[in-house]
Amino acid sequence: MHITMVKKVLADGSPCRKCVQAEEMLKRRKLWDRLDQVIVADERDPDSVGFQHAKRYDIETAPFFVVREGDKETLYTSPLELIRKVLKPRKTKSRIDVGSLRKKLDQASPQTIVKEALTHFGETCAIAFSGAEDVALVQMAADSGLPFSVFCLDTGRLHAETLTFIERVRTHYGIRIDVMNPEAAALQDFVRKKGLFSFFVDGHKECCGVRKVEPLRRILKTKRAWITGQRKDQSATRSSLDVVEEDQAFEGVGGSLFKFNPIANWSGDDVWAFLRDTSAPTNPLHDEGYRSIGCAPCTRPTSPEQHEREGRWWWEDEFKKECGLHLTASKNT
Ligand code: ADX
Ligand code: SF4
Repeated sequence: MHITMVKKVLADGSPCRKCVQAEEMLKRRKLWDRLDQVIVADERDPDSVGFQHAKRYDIETAPFFVVREGDKETLYTSPLELIRKVLKPRKTKSRIDVGSLRKKLDQASPQTIVKEALTHFGETCAIAFSGAEDVALVQMAADSGLPFSVFCLDTGRLHAETLTFIERVRTHYGIRIDVMNPEAAALQDFVRKKGLFSFFVDGHKECCGVRKVEPLRRILKTKRAWITGQRKDQSATRSSLDVVEEDQAFEGVGGSLFKFNPIANWSGDDVWAFLRDTSAPTNPLHDEGYRSIGCAPCTRPTSPEQHEREGRWWWEDEFKKECGLHLTASKNT
Protein backbone atom coordinates (compact mmCIF):
# COMPACT_ATOMS: atom_id res chain seq x y z
CA MET A 1 0.00 0.00 0.00
CA HIS A 2 1.22 3.50 -0.84
CA ILE A 3 -0.34 6.63 0.67
CA THR A 4 0.18 10.11 -0.74
CA MET A 5 -1.08 13.28 0.88
CA VAL A 6 -1.59 16.33 -1.29
CA LYS A 7 -1.51 19.58 0.65
CA LYS A 8 -1.90 23.12 -0.56
CA VAL A 9 0.12 26.32 -0.30
CA LEU A 10 -1.96 29.46 -0.88
CA ALA A 11 -1.24 32.28 -3.33
CA ASP A 12 0.34 34.38 -0.55
CA GLY A 13 2.74 31.54 0.33
CA SER A 14 0.96 30.50 3.55
CA PRO A 15 -0.04 26.88 4.14
CA CYS A 16 -3.72 25.90 3.83
CA ARG A 17 -5.27 25.82 7.31
CA LYS A 18 -7.14 22.52 6.83
CA CYS A 19 -3.94 20.86 5.60
CA VAL A 20 -2.07 22.02 8.71
CA GLN A 21 -4.89 20.75 10.94
CA ALA A 22 -4.89 17.37 9.19
CA GLU A 23 -1.11 17.09 9.54
CA GLU A 24 -1.23 17.98 13.25
CA MET A 25 -4.04 15.52 13.87
CA LEU A 26 -2.24 12.66 12.12
CA LYS A 27 0.87 13.46 14.16
CA ARG A 28 -1.12 13.50 17.37
CA ARG A 29 -2.55 10.09 16.52
CA LYS A 30 1.00 8.85 15.72
CA LEU A 31 -0.15 8.07 12.18
CA TRP A 32 1.88 10.63 10.27
CA ASP A 33 4.72 8.18 9.63
CA ARG A 34 2.29 5.88 7.87
CA LEU A 35 2.10 8.30 4.91
CA ASP A 36 4.62 7.45 2.18
CA GLN A 37 4.67 10.77 0.38
CA VAL A 38 3.52 14.34 0.90
CA ILE A 39 3.32 16.60 -2.12
CA VAL A 40 2.39 20.24 -2.48
CA ALA A 41 -0.17 21.93 -4.69
CA ASP A 42 1.19 25.47 -4.84
CA GLU A 43 -1.35 28.10 -5.93
CA ARG A 44 1.55 30.19 -7.22
CA ASP A 45 2.57 27.37 -9.55
CA PRO A 46 -0.19 25.65 -11.53
CA ASP A 47 2.39 23.14 -12.78
CA SER A 48 3.38 22.01 -9.26
CA VAL A 49 3.16 18.24 -8.73
CA GLY A 50 0.29 18.63 -6.29
CA PHE A 51 -1.76 20.61 -8.80
CA GLN A 52 -1.11 17.99 -11.44
CA HIS A 53 -2.49 15.42 -9.02
CA ALA A 54 -5.54 17.58 -8.29
CA LYS A 55 -6.24 17.92 -12.03
CA ARG A 56 -5.71 14.24 -12.65
CA TYR A 57 -8.17 13.23 -9.93
CA ASP A 58 -10.46 16.21 -10.53
CA ILE A 59 -10.32 17.38 -6.91
CA GLU A 60 -10.64 20.99 -5.84
CA THR A 61 -10.33 20.66 -2.08
CA ALA A 62 -7.26 20.20 0.07
CA PRO A 63 -5.90 18.17 1.64
CA PHE A 64 -6.64 14.93 -0.12
CA PHE A 65 -5.08 11.50 0.03
CA VAL A 66 -4.40 8.95 -2.70
CA VAL A 67 -4.15 5.36 -1.52
CA ARG A 68 -2.66 2.92 -4.03
CA GLU A 69 -2.94 -0.83 -3.60
CA GLY A 70 -1.71 -2.75 -6.65
CA ASP A 71 -3.61 -1.28 -9.59
CA LYS A 72 -6.35 0.20 -7.44
CA GLU A 73 -6.35 3.85 -6.40
CA THR A 74 -8.76 5.27 -3.83
CA LEU A 75 -9.18 8.94 -2.97
CA TYR A 76 -9.98 10.35 0.45
CA THR A 77 -10.77 13.98 1.06
CA SER A 78 -11.30 13.49 4.80
CA PRO A 79 -8.40 12.57 7.08
CA LEU A 80 -10.91 11.01 9.49
CA GLU A 81 -12.14 8.65 6.79
CA LEU A 82 -8.54 7.85 5.89
CA ILE A 83 -7.89 6.90 9.50
CA ARG A 84 -11.04 4.82 9.77
CA LYS A 85 -10.75 2.99 6.48
CA VAL A 86 -7.03 2.82 5.78
CA LEU A 87 -4.79 3.57 8.74
CA LYS A 88 -6.49 0.77 10.59
CA PRO A 89 -5.49 -0.27 14.07
CA ARG A 90 -2.85 -2.87 14.62
CA LYS A 91 -3.98 -6.23 15.94
CA THR A 92 -4.35 -6.54 19.69
CA LYS A 93 -3.60 -9.29 22.21
CA SER A 94 -6.49 -11.39 23.43
CA ARG A 95 -7.06 -13.07 26.81
CA ILE A 96 -5.88 -11.56 30.09
CA ASP A 97 -6.06 -12.44 33.75
CA VAL A 98 -7.31 -9.59 35.92
CA GLY A 99 -5.42 -10.64 39.09
CA SER A 100 -1.99 -10.72 37.50
CA LEU A 101 -2.74 -7.61 35.51
CA ARG A 102 -3.68 -5.75 38.70
CA LYS A 103 -0.41 -6.81 40.32
CA LYS A 104 1.54 -5.71 37.29
CA LEU A 105 -0.20 -2.34 36.96
CA ASP A 106 -0.82 -1.42 40.58
CA GLN A 107 1.99 1.14 40.72
CA ALA A 108 2.29 1.75 36.98
CA SER A 109 1.95 5.18 35.40
CA PRO A 110 -1.46 6.08 33.90
CA GLN A 111 0.14 6.09 30.45
CA THR A 112 1.36 2.52 30.95
CA ILE A 113 -2.07 1.42 32.16
CA VAL A 114 -3.82 2.98 29.17
CA LYS A 115 -1.31 1.38 26.83
CA GLU A 116 -1.78 -2.02 28.44
CA ALA A 117 -5.58 -1.75 28.18
CA LEU A 118 -5.42 -0.78 24.51
CA THR A 119 -2.78 -3.38 23.66
CA HIS A 120 -5.14 -6.05 24.91
CA PHE A 121 -8.49 -4.70 23.83
CA GLY A 122 -7.98 -2.06 21.11
CA GLU A 123 -11.21 -0.54 19.86
CA THR A 124 -13.23 -2.87 22.05
CA CYS A 125 -11.90 -0.82 24.95
CA ALA A 126 -13.83 2.42 25.33
CA ILE A 127 -12.84 5.56 27.15
CA ALA A 128 -15.77 6.98 29.10
CA PHE A 129 -15.26 10.67 28.45
CA SER A 130 -17.41 13.00 30.51
CA GLY A 131 -16.37 16.25 28.84
CA ALA A 132 -14.20 17.35 31.77
CA GLU A 133 -10.56 16.97 32.81
CA ASP A 134 -10.73 13.25 32.00
CA VAL A 135 -9.75 14.40 28.49
CA ALA A 136 -6.32 13.37 29.86
CA LEU A 137 -7.32 9.77 29.04
CA VAL A 138 -8.03 10.64 25.41
CA GLN A 139 -4.67 12.41 25.21
CA MET A 140 -2.89 9.32 26.60
CA ALA A 141 -4.72 7.01 24.21
CA ALA A 142 -3.88 9.22 21.24
CA ASP A 143 -0.24 9.37 22.39
CA SER A 144 -0.08 5.57 22.53
CA GLY A 145 -0.70 5.25 18.78
CA LEU A 146 -2.95 2.26 19.55
CA PRO A 147 -6.59 1.80 18.50
CA PHE A 148 -9.25 2.88 20.99
CA SER A 149 -12.84 4.06 21.13
CA VAL A 150 -14.52 6.86 23.07
CA PHE A 151 -18.07 7.41 24.25
CA CYS A 152 -19.84 10.14 26.06
CA LEU A 153 -23.18 9.97 27.87
CA ASP A 154 -25.16 12.97 26.72
CA THR A 155 -27.79 13.15 29.42
CA GLY A 156 -29.62 16.03 27.75
CA ARG A 157 -28.71 18.17 30.75
CA LEU A 158 -25.01 18.90 30.08
CA HIS A 159 -23.80 22.51 29.94
CA ALA A 160 -23.61 24.01 26.44
CA GLU A 161 -19.89 24.56 27.14
CA THR A 162 -19.42 20.83 27.75
CA LEU A 163 -21.12 19.91 24.47
CA THR A 164 -18.95 22.41 22.61
CA PHE A 165 -15.90 20.98 24.34
CA ILE A 166 -16.81 17.39 23.39
CA GLU A 167 -17.01 18.50 19.76
CA ARG A 168 -13.66 20.26 20.10
CA VAL A 169 -12.07 17.08 21.45
CA ARG A 170 -13.52 15.11 18.54
CA THR A 171 -11.88 17.34 15.93
CA HIS A 172 -8.69 18.01 17.90
CA TYR A 173 -7.82 14.32 18.09
CA GLY A 174 -9.60 13.27 14.88
CA ILE A 175 -11.59 10.61 16.70
CA ARG A 176 -15.11 9.30 16.59
CA ILE A 177 -17.02 9.89 19.82
CA ASP A 178 -20.08 7.74 20.36
CA VAL A 179 -22.51 10.15 21.95
CA MET A 180 -25.06 8.07 23.83
CA ASN A 181 -28.54 9.46 24.42
CA PRO A 182 -31.17 8.26 26.88
CA GLU A 183 -33.80 5.91 25.53
CA ALA A 184 -36.53 8.26 24.22
CA ALA A 185 -39.64 6.47 25.52
CA ALA A 186 -38.19 5.88 29.00
CA LEU A 187 -37.08 9.50 29.27
CA GLN A 188 -40.42 10.84 28.11
CA ASP A 189 -42.25 8.63 30.56
CA PHE A 190 -39.98 9.69 33.44
CA VAL A 191 -40.28 13.42 32.70
CA ARG A 192 -44.04 13.16 32.27
CA LYS A 193 -44.36 11.55 35.69
CA LYS A 194 -41.70 13.39 37.67
CA GLY A 195 -40.95 16.63 35.82
CA LEU A 196 -37.53 18.04 35.01
CA PHE A 197 -36.13 18.59 38.49
CA SER A 198 -37.24 15.59 40.56
CA PHE A 199 -33.64 15.04 41.75
CA PHE A 200 -33.94 18.07 44.04
CA VAL A 201 -36.96 16.41 45.69
CA ASP A 202 -36.19 12.70 45.93
CA GLY A 203 -32.55 12.34 44.93
CA HIS A 204 -30.62 11.88 41.71
CA LYS A 205 -30.75 8.07 41.38
CA GLU A 206 -33.85 7.84 39.21
CA CYS A 207 -32.89 10.60 36.80
CA CYS A 208 -29.29 9.32 36.55
CA GLY A 209 -30.73 5.85 35.99
CA VAL A 210 -32.63 6.96 32.88
CA ARG A 211 -30.18 9.53 31.56
CA LYS A 212 -26.83 7.87 32.34
CA VAL A 213 -26.94 4.29 33.55
CA GLU A 214 -29.18 2.77 30.87
CA PRO A 215 -27.23 4.35 27.97
CA LEU A 216 -23.99 3.23 29.66
CA ARG A 217 -25.30 -0.32 29.94
CA ARG A 218 -26.19 -0.23 26.23
CA ILE A 219 -22.76 0.90 25.00
CA LEU A 220 -20.82 -1.37 27.35
CA LYS A 221 -22.66 -4.41 25.94
CA THR A 222 -20.67 -3.80 22.75
CA LYS A 223 -17.26 -3.54 24.52
CA ARG A 224 -14.80 -5.82 26.29
CA ALA A 225 -13.29 -3.16 28.51
CA TRP A 226 -13.71 0.46 29.49
CA ILE A 227 -11.48 3.18 30.86
CA THR A 228 -12.69 5.74 33.36
CA GLY A 229 -11.26 8.91 34.87
CA GLN A 230 -12.12 8.03 38.48
CA ARG A 231 -9.56 8.97 41.13
CA LYS A 232 -9.17 7.83 44.72
CA ASP A 233 -9.03 11.40 45.98
CA GLN A 234 -12.43 12.27 44.47
CA SER A 235 -14.57 10.83 47.23
CA ALA A 236 -14.88 8.48 50.16
CA THR A 237 -16.61 5.97 47.88
CA ARG A 238 -13.57 5.88 45.57
CA SER A 239 -10.77 5.82 48.14
CA SER A 240 -9.86 2.18 47.57
CA LEU A 241 -10.27 2.10 43.84
CA ASP A 242 -8.19 -0.44 41.88
CA VAL A 243 -6.42 0.50 38.67
CA VAL A 244 -8.00 -2.51 36.99
CA GLU A 245 -10.98 -4.60 38.00
CA GLU A 246 -13.57 -6.91 36.53
CA ASP A 247 -16.77 -4.90 36.33
CA GLN A 248 -19.49 -6.63 38.34
CA ALA A 249 -22.24 -4.14 37.59
CA PHE A 250 -22.21 -4.13 33.79
CA GLU A 251 -21.77 -6.70 31.07
CA GLY A 252 -19.58 -6.56 28.00
CA VAL A 253 -19.53 -8.68 24.85
CA GLY A 254 -20.07 -12.27 25.97
CA GLY A 255 -20.61 -11.20 29.59
CA SER A 256 -17.31 -10.21 31.15
CA LEU A 257 -16.07 -6.65 31.16
CA PHE A 258 -12.78 -5.15 32.32
CA LYS A 259 -12.63 -1.73 33.86
CA PHE A 260 -9.44 0.33 33.94
CA ASN A 261 -9.02 3.35 36.19
CA PRO A 262 -5.58 4.58 35.04
CA ILE A 263 -5.54 7.84 37.00
CA ALA A 264 -6.84 6.26 40.23
CA ASN A 265 -3.62 7.18 42.05
CA TRP A 266 -3.26 10.67 40.60
CA SER A 267 -4.41 13.84 42.36
CA GLY A 268 -6.35 16.56 40.60
CA ASP A 269 -3.10 18.57 40.44
CA ASP A 270 -1.35 15.68 38.68
CA VAL A 271 -4.08 15.64 36.06
CA TRP A 272 -3.81 19.37 35.49
CA ALA A 273 0.00 19.24 35.25
CA PHE A 274 -0.39 16.54 32.58
CA LEU A 275 -3.00 18.58 30.67
CA ARG A 276 -0.72 21.61 30.69
CA ASP A 277 2.35 19.62 29.64
CA THR A 278 0.53 18.09 26.70
CA SER A 279 -1.39 21.27 25.75
CA ALA A 280 -4.59 19.21 25.77
CA PRO A 281 -7.82 21.15 25.18
CA THR A 282 -9.90 21.78 28.31
CA ASN A 283 -13.52 22.59 29.17
CA PRO A 284 -13.85 26.40 29.60
CA LEU A 285 -16.07 25.81 32.66
CA HIS A 286 -12.90 24.95 34.60
CA ASP A 287 -11.87 28.62 34.25
CA GLU A 288 -15.13 29.64 35.93
CA GLY A 289 -14.49 27.69 39.12
CA TYR A 290 -16.09 24.39 38.13
CA ARG A 291 -13.82 21.50 39.15
CA SER A 292 -15.87 18.30 39.03
CA ILE A 293 -18.26 18.69 36.09
CA GLY A 294 -21.46 16.72 35.51
CA CYS A 295 -24.94 17.81 34.44
CA ALA A 296 -25.75 21.54 34.61
CA PRO A 297 -28.50 21.49 37.27
CA CYS A 298 -26.47 19.16 39.52
CA THR A 299 -23.08 20.89 39.25
CA ARG A 300 -21.85 24.16 40.69
CA PRO A 301 -18.48 25.89 41.06
CA THR A 302 -16.50 25.32 44.25
CA SER A 303 -14.16 27.58 46.17
CA PRO A 304 -10.51 26.48 46.58
CA GLU A 305 -11.17 25.50 50.24
CA GLN A 306 -14.00 23.16 49.28
CA HIS A 307 -13.54 19.60 48.03
CA GLU A 308 -14.26 19.40 44.29
CA ARG A 309 -17.04 16.89 44.90
CA GLU A 310 -18.93 19.48 46.97
CA GLY A 311 -19.93 21.01 43.65
CA ARG A 312 -21.91 17.87 42.73
CA TRP A 313 -25.37 16.96 44.15
CA TRP A 314 -24.59 19.29 47.06
CA TRP A 315 -27.98 18.72 48.65
CA GLU A 316 -27.22 15.00 49.16
CA ASP A 317 -25.19 12.91 51.58
CA GLU A 318 -21.51 12.38 50.61
CA PHE A 319 -21.95 8.60 50.56
CA LYS A 320 -24.91 8.81 48.18
CA LYS A 321 -23.04 10.66 45.49
CA GLU A 322 -22.38 7.74 43.15
CA CYS A 323 -24.85 7.91 40.30
CA GLY A 324 -24.68 4.28 39.24
CA LEU A 325 -21.86 4.42 36.70
CA HIS A 326 -19.29 3.15 39.16
CA LEU A 327 -20.99 0.68 41.44
CA THR A 328 -18.00 -1.65 41.59
CA ALA A 329 -15.51 1.04 42.53
CA SER A 330 -14.65 -0.37 45.95
CA LYS A 331 -15.56 -4.04 45.57
CA ASN A 332 -11.96 -5.20 45.94
CA THR A 333 -11.42 -3.62 49.31
S1 ADX B 1 -20.16 10.55 38.30
O1 ADX B 1 -20.52 9.13 38.38
O2 ADX B 1 -20.02 11.18 39.62
O3 ADX B 1 -20.99 11.32 37.39
P1 ADX B 1 -17.61 11.63 37.65
O4 ADX B 1 -18.18 12.88 37.11
O5 ADX B 1 -16.91 11.67 38.95
O6 ADX B 1 -18.74 10.47 37.68
O7 ADX B 1 -16.67 11.00 36.55
C1 ADX B 1 -15.88 9.85 36.78
C2 ADX B 1 -15.69 9.16 35.47
O8 ADX B 1 -16.93 8.58 35.05
C3 ADX B 1 -15.30 10.06 34.33
O9 ADX B 1 -13.92 10.32 34.31
C4 ADX B 1 -15.76 9.27 33.15
O10 ADX B 1 -14.85 8.24 32.87
C5 ADX B 1 -17.06 8.65 33.65
N1 ADX B 1 -18.20 9.55 33.33
C6 ADX B 1 -18.87 10.38 34.16
N2 ADX B 1 -19.83 11.04 33.49
C7 ADX B 1 -19.76 10.62 32.21
C8 ADX B 1 -20.45 10.95 31.01
N3 ADX B 1 -21.44 11.84 30.99
N4 ADX B 1 -20.08 10.34 29.87
C9 ADX B 1 -19.10 9.42 29.86
N5 ADX B 1 -18.40 9.08 30.95
C10 ADX B 1 -18.71 9.67 32.11
FE1 SF4 C 1 -30.24 13.85 36.12
FE2 SF4 C 1 -28.62 15.38 37.62
FE3 SF4 C 1 -28.11 12.75 37.23
FE4 SF4 C 1 -27.80 14.53 35.26
S1 SF4 C 1 -26.64 14.41 37.19
S2 SF4 C 1 -28.73 12.57 35.07
S3 SF4 C 1 -29.55 15.92 35.64
S4 SF4 C 1 -29.85 13.70 38.34
